[in-house]
Amino acid sequence: TNTVTKQILVLPGDGIGPEIMAEALKVLRLAIDKFQLGLELVFDELGGAAIDKYGVPLADDTLAKAKKAHAVLLGAVGGPRWDTLERSIRPERGLLKIRSELGLFGNLRPAILYPQLASASSLKPEVVSGLDILIVRELTGGIYFGPRETKVLDNGERRAQDTLPYSESEIRRIAKVGFEMAMLRNKRLCSVDKANVLESSQLWREIVEQVAKDYPEVELSHMYVDNAAMQLVRAPKQFDVIVTDNMFGDILSDEASMLTGSIGMLPSASLDANGKGMYEPCHGSAPDIAGKGIANPLATILSVSMMLRYTFAQPEAASAIEQAVSDVLDQNLRTADIWLEGMHKVGTREMGDAVVAALAKL
Ligand code: NAI
Ligand code: MG
Repeated sequence: TNTVTKQILVLPGDGIGPEIMAEALKVLRLAIDKFQLGLELVFDELGGAAIDKYGVPLADDTLAKAKKAHAVLLGAVGGPRWDTLERSIRPERGLLKIRSELGLFGNLRPAILYPQLASASSLKPEVVSGLDILIVRELTGGIYFGPRETKVLDNGERRAQDTLPYSESEIRRIAKVGFEMAMLRNKRLCSVDKANVLESSQLWREIVEQVAKDYPEVELSHMYVDNAAMQLVRAPKQFDVIVTDNMFGDILSDEASMLTGSIGMLPSASLDANGKGMYEPCHGSAPDIAGKGIANPLATILSVSMMLRYTFAQPEAASAIEQAVSDVLDQNLRTADIWLEGMHKVGTREMGDAVVAALAKL
């Protein structure tokens, strides 16, 4: 047995966050037990829940706990109740702050179409069936963090400006994540940029080419972001791993996730250089369905699987959770967001219990 106990900080968040987290924790606790993982859970609040409890979206003490833990498991943050607050103390600030304070520059967003859900995609089955791609998005640099200002010109008109800076080291470390992920998968990496226009993208391409020398087995290609947006809807299966900057990755990963037709199914990981990570579903706090017990917990459950795979190097436990998710889909259990005629509609808790039961049987 594993005698070293490592900590996971659990932040349920707002809206459906606590509901989906409750189910994910049932699955995690069973996995810890079944696979003797030696992991310990600690709890705190982030986002709106933290504003209510501490007056700020990310308290210093919570950040300290996050720094001490090996991984953070997050539900989702935000909601209309906090939308009237000024931007500096809104829930999203807590999320941006924890990502940058933990140095989580590598955002992994898989887009996987489960065969059982093939008809949920907006694309033809022959175009998407078997889709399994991974987008690696740079998360702590680029235009979302570059210098910005709004100034008043001499003629009285306001002019706003954002800037897109990337340093060599920032590009190098995310490129490495891209290549490492490609090595774990099908050894094909597509780097997406706008090098025909942007100076930062020219540097991006140059550094990615340099890093490629350390990964001779990986087949590297480059693509302009506008073409990548087209190719993702034309022939998405041509991709294995995509690596790209913060803003391009934000947009392309949302586009890719929609190919699978189900935001309630998609997990994500945000990693630092040492494998520490924060894991969360791609979707938000879904205030429109919060409290109704109908949210899909599978994205959060699959985030637990990613956490066990990438931070705790427990591929067996991670795969077992993925298998359990696939098994409940085989049992035709569906939450409302992925429900189709003829399927058995279940709520959040029933879905969580079904995954636990399937995992227990493996
Ligand atoms: P959203 O992802 O929360 O919801 C979009 C739509 O998808 C809604 O109709 C919702 O009911 C549905 N949906 C989302 N997750 C679902 C699930 N697990 N099961 C079933 N249906 C699900 O995005 P929206 O509405 O734009 O944002 C709502 C709030 O969430 C906002 O306050 C926003 O700032 C926040 N947000 C937080 C994120 C995070 O914590 N990382 C990411 C995106 C949004
Ligand atoms: Mg987004």
